[in-house]
Amino acid sequence: MVEGSRITGLADLARDDPAVIKLWIGEGDLPTPSFIRDAATAALDAGATRYTYSLGLPALREALSDYHARHWRVEVPPERFAVTVGGMNAIMQACQAVLEPGDEVIVPSPAWPNVSEAIRIVGATPVPLLFETVQGKFTLPVASFAAAITDRTRAIIVNSPSNPTGWIMPEDEMVELLELTRSRGLWLISDEVYNRFTYDGAVARSFLEFASPGDRLIVTNTFSKNWAMTGWRAGWLIYPPGLEMVFDNLGQYNTTSIPTFVQHAAIAALRDGDSFVQELVARCAESRAVFCDGLAALPGLTVYRPDGTFYLLIRAESEEDSFSIATRILREAKVGLAPGIAFGAGGDRYLRICFAISPALAREALDRLGGWIHAGGLERRPERSR
Ligand SMILES: Cc1ncc(COP(=O)(O)O)c(C=O)c1O
Repeated sequence: MVEGSRITGLADLARDDPAVIKLWIGEGDLPTPSFIRDAATAALDAGATRYTYSLGLPALREALSDYHARHWRVEVPPERFAVTVGGMNAIMQACQAVLEPGDEVIVPSPAWPNVSEAIRIVGATPVPLLFETVQGKFTLPVASFAAAITDRTRAIIVNSPSNPTGWIMPEDEMVELLELTRSRGLWLISDEVYNRFTYDGAVARSFLEFASPGDRLIVTNTFSKNWAMTGWRAGWLIYPPGLEMVFDNLGQYNTTSIPTFVQHAAIAALRDGDSFVQELVARCAESRAVFCDGLAALPGLTVYRPDGTFYLLIRAESEEDSFSIATRILREAKVGLAPGIAFGAGGDRYLRICFAISPALAREALDRLGGWIHAGGLERRPERSR
């Protein structure tokens, strides 16, 4: 019932091969900054090794509230935050809180595959809603969401900025979508994990900015991407007033909170981590330019320049499926890309590149891809193709 990841299926072919430039997984190449590591060590030394509140340390929930006030100018009290085991567990808890077996959930697609599996795990059904492309950009009009609603629809999950498309939902469409969910009594789960990764100098808008406290809105987020903390497994979600007990229980029965010393590190990230995020995003901007400009100049490729996230999709002029092309690029060019088929409906035509890497490594990967294409890589047929 629950599907395995097709990214892992490819990565397993060359996980330990140092010659491969690995651009398939959604994480950057920088270590967690030392001020965050030091905060964890200090917390360990100070004895932060015991159970704590299921919803997270009060000081962390306070710091999360301040963080949202600082960047989005929204007043969300600490009582509306739950600390979770990364963004994944935030999504899982959101699904556990609002979905029942038999419910349908509309999910723009292609999408980060874990979302659909979380929906399936609680017995509900993900309903993919395909992005459209217009002049090299992804788009998804609110009318399409409206048309996909059925009697069984319980929620819509939006991930803007979107992995893997790089799409950022325009502000007016966010307002319209919120209004649609309100009028139809649906839940809106907004996965905002890439909201700092934009390339126009501003944070991506949050649904919190347009919502009223009474709206059926759950926002999910993570420390993983902004502060290079993928392995720490720390995230959060924001729920409407009145659901504190629900998430207190879900936190208790899922994981009984997250490691206490990690929560102290998370406070340091929120409090002192703004300049790190700025530098990280600036670095991604450079590598994004390397790939977008360089790949656009290569024959046989269409490049979808992302507005947000640190991913970009490319499409090869080829009949070959994405898993097969990605396997050949891995073997022949020593560059690991994620096959679009891993991102579900509408994904198979694409390959995804993660550009949260140094511009120098981006140039090396680009050279390899360019060399492969110029040597006829796209035209060669795989030995065992369909
Ligand atoms: C769209 C999206 N949401 C959520 C997550 C989960 O983040 P975490 O690694 O903190 O569980 C990811 C991770 O890649 C993601 O791409």
